[in-house]
Amino acid sequence: MAEADNTKQESRIFEPPASLVQQATISGMPAYQALCQEAERDYEGFWGRLANETLEWHKPFTKVLDESKAPFYQWFNDGELNVSYNCLDRNLKNGNADKAAILFEADGGEVTRVTYRDLYERVCRLANGLKSLGIKKGDRVVIYMPMSVEGIAAMQACARIGATHSVVFGGFSAKSLQERINDAGAVAVITADEQQRGGKQLPLKAIVDEAISLGGCESIRNVIVYRRTGGNIGFTEGRDLWLHELVANQPTDCEPEWVNAEHPLFILYTSGSTGKPKGVQHSSGGYLLWTALTMKWTFDIKPQDIFWCTADIGWVTGHSYITYGPLAVGATQIVFEGIPTYPNAGRFWDMIARHKATIFYTAPTAIRSLIKAADADANVHPSKYDLSSLRILGSVGEPINPEAWMWYYRNVGQERCPIVDTFWQTETGGHMITPLPGATPMVPGSCTLPLPGIMAAIVDETGHDLPNGQGGILVVKRPWPSMIRTIWNDPERFKKSYFPEEFGGKLYLAGDGAIRNKDTGYFTITGRIDDVLNVSGHRMGTMEIESALVAHPLVAEAAVVGKPDETTGEAICAFVVLKRARPSGDEAKQIAKELRDWVAKEIGPIAKPKELRFGDNLPKTRSGKIMRRLLRVLAKGEEITQDISTLENPAILDQLKQAQ
Ligand code: WTA
Repeated sequence: MAEADNTKQESRIFEPPASLVQQATISGMPAYQALCQEAERDYEGFWGRLANETLEWHKPFTKVLDESKAPFYQWFNDGELNVSYNCLDRNLKNGNADKAAILFEADGGEVTRVTYRDLYERVCRLANGLKSLGIKKGDRVVIYMPMSVEGIAAMQACARIGATHSVVFGGFSAKSLQERINDAGAVAVITADEQQRGGKQLPLKAIVDEAISLGGCESIRNVIVYRRTGGNIGFTEGRDLWLHELVANQPTDCEPEWVNAEHPLFILYTSGSTGKPKGVQHSSGGYLLWTALTMKWTFDIKPQDIFWCTADIGWVTGHSYITYGPLAVGATQIVFEGIPTYPNAGRFWDMIARHKATIFYTAPTAIRSLIKAADADANVHPSKYDLSSLRILGSVGEPINPEAWMWYYRNVGQERCPIVDTFWQTETGGHMITPLPGATPMVPGSCTLPLPGIMAAIVDETGHDLPNGQGGILVVKRPWPSMIRTIWNDPERFKKSYFPEEFGGKLYLAGDGAIRNKDTGYFTITGRIDDVLNVSGHRMGTMEIESALVAHPLVAEAAVVGKPDETTGEAICAFVVLKRARPSGDEAKQIAKELRDWVAKEIGPIAKPKELRFGDNLPKTRSGKIMRRLLRVLAKGEEITQDISTLENPAILDQLKQAQ
């Protein structure tokens, strides 16, 4: 990574290619501005028009936005539709029946082509199977699956019968899974025997069994198991069923359950600033509208495109840009089971070349790790592969540093493909601030401008607008269709977290800081302003990790902060006080390992601290408050130059310099 990083005063501007501008859905800045103006002029008319043009409604809506219960906003509330009908049946009617919906590539390289008709039949059979178990509209179903056609079909089957799914990422531990099953009150879990990633088999069913054995999962009646690897698993008679047996004799049609536009399509748990993950609840109508529309606007999706989003269905990116958005617009997409570095770090480039992918959407962490790999081994450099099919690149999940942006632009996009740096969140349902590939001049490291209809702004601590050039708090001033509806089981927390009274109760608080460029008005996200870390694009609450650490019998106290990391963006650094004397040498290493493994068991391997530091105490003020800003400086390995006069125990700082 040779190039100098000039995040601070990035001034390079890259125009979208003229050929793309010409044929793009939103063609040129005037077209973008016209849409923004339409939204300003007649907000409800704008969204109403788009909802009618983009989705098929079983019963048309008469009211676009209902603000009477704000901040519990309701969209298209007297309309009825079915999400799975819009993603599947509509494509059969539109002449897409034999079109590939999914090009599935397994870890080992085998490719399965699944047409829209195939997918429709699979979803219908599974939906009928779920119904045969008594699962019905409004029930919650937890999905703990590998990247697979079956995983996508499971989500679509729930949508078809009006059951609300809650997908739990396959890397979460039994304890995390148990908490989510319990909070959602799920009636069934759909899982696989094992997942196959990077040439290895990793357990899933065994973790489901363990989760249920932890207690609190009494609502679960069935566990449905997709046989992926054929590995040995336990089977509980009467509760567990094989997915292939459940669907074997089911009809290949299943009448969709028509639901209200506000019917909860899914709950997806994400980290917040307190210990307990939040069950972000999304709607059916508004959510599907925005995922479909952003496929057209941000990705400029066309019938002949081969779209590839590398996310996992366990995260919101996989929900919006694998399971729902691409199918709602009748696209062909690649779905990949494996990891970018197996059998080698050229896997992504090789797959783009073989499948002739035209739109590629991935995370900065993946790009940064592939830059490193290509620096180390020229054979896995993108220049060794035919990437000429690509026309648009995307980035998601964390800030992309200008250096990684330039590498992606030059080496993957060959200076021909615009990069859409999409800022959004689990709570927003879809893209919020992003360049448009056929309109927006791009600046590396900036997510540029809000999409039409998204009223993003930057305010100070009292909720007042800040001028361009001044950093502040990112907010959205008006509700939008795909916004979070509530936190499952906790409407009060929803209000407090996202529409706090300090800001008048009407501004959506994203939890990120941002700044707008003085001249262009472009947004740059400056990072979270709450206690949430972003490690490899995964959201982790510092309190969640702290609670996991203090649950260990050896630990008296723990504080977790983020530290900048070249590859993962941020890394987890934990400061720990033990109930016994501060360890050193091999013993410290040994305890650090034990604590890492413990966190992996409590939350999941993604939450393992990269660094652990032991002290006799944590730096505290006289009133006993932990001085986190000092911990952040220590984590970075920098000298403390700030005022430490309020610090009660300055001697502690030296102890905390040493990392395990
Ligand atoms: C961060 C992922 C900078 C941000 C879709 C946000 C980004 C959090 C970007 C949401 C981006 C996401 N530039 N930061 N393009 N995209 N973020 O809920 O801090 O997993 O609040 O949703 O990721 O993470 P989440």
